Amino acid sequence: MEEKIKQIKEQALNEIDRAETGQVIEELRVRYLGRKSEISQLFSQIPKMDSADKGKYGKELNILKQTIATALDEKTGTFGAKEEKIDLTLPAASFQKGTKHVLSHTTEAICRIFEDLGFIVYEGTEIENEWHNFSALNIPLEHPSRDAFDTFYLDVPEKREGKYLLRSHTSPSQIHVMKKLKPPLAVISPGRVYRPDKVDASHSFMFHQVEGFCVDTDINFAHLKGVLLHFARRYYSPDVKLRFRPHFFPFTEPSAEVDVSCMICHQKGCSVCSQKGWIEILGCGMIHPNVLGACHIDPKKYQGFAFGMGVDRIAMQKYGINDIRLFYENDKRFLDQFDEV
Ligand code: PHE
Repeated sequence: MEEKIKQIKEQALNEIDRAETGQVIEELRVRYLGRKSEISQLFSQIPKMDSADKGKYGKELNILKQTIATALDEKTGTFGAKEEKIDLTLPAASFQKGTKHVLSHTTEAICRIFEDLGFIVYEGTEIENEWHNFSALNIPLEHPSRDAFDTFYLDVPEKREGKYLLRSHTSPSQIHVMKKLKPPLAVISPGRVYRPDKVDASHSFMFHQVEGFCVDTDINFAHLKGVLLHFARRYYSPDVKLRFRPHFFPFTEPSAEVDVSCMICHQKGCSVCSQKGWIEILGCGMIHPNVLGACHIDPKKYQGFAFGMGVDRIAMQKYGINDIRLFYENDKRFLDQFDEV
């Protein structure tokens, strides 16, 4: 036994020393340490020995096994370094990285300008009820102006504030904020809105708006103009022009629609501005006294202005995108073009 152990040890260490590949090492591992190895066979003789030899040879065989295992592992370690050559000059594997959606980027860029003026951001809820979406905004039940804000109603039981619905504009954010906070207020509120429009190149049943409003004592239309002009100069260009056209919204009085001079053709006429030189970007006005009243803000003491702009449309004009559906199709070839815009 003694002799056999010595012989196996010498032979194994010798062969391990000469081995040149990982594969040979694995073969040696099986040969010397596997179930059918000589060492296993020697172990199986131990139960037949007398007790003094049992202890002695059991111990020696274990040491032998351990010695061979260590030698195999050490040799494998030296191959690892040799075989795994790293060529640092190879080009790195490319990986697909996501990009921020152009509409998220546009929304953030718009909000940022108002935040810099001290406006706080409030994100309202997409599920609203009739009171917040209409009544509190001076759009009474059965009033024809509700048709202009065609609405998705939810199929759930109605409550005290009317039917549940998907908000058709971000103006209900005005109500939520004015109910909770006291003036002075300067708030910007971005979010998704929903209208059951037939989907085409310029309509989608879901789109994005940014609402802004300001309430304090002594607020007038000049403040609204000043804030919007500041926005347009920063968002478009310092030499942009604004045009206010009288309009009607139930929740503002007086109301206006605002156009910016077309920054693509510099008012020479192009397809983006439909040869008009002007592009409509938002609706606005002085908050109607009834709206302030609905939120328990005294309209005799406080005034406010409000505006709402369509983010999809602003992004389409800015980047010359001619179909709103492109925003929602998740085609990476389209979306990747707006990385870091
Ligand atoms: N809520 C209006 C719309 O969706 C926009 C608007 C907001 C107009 C605030 C005036 C004041 O068209």
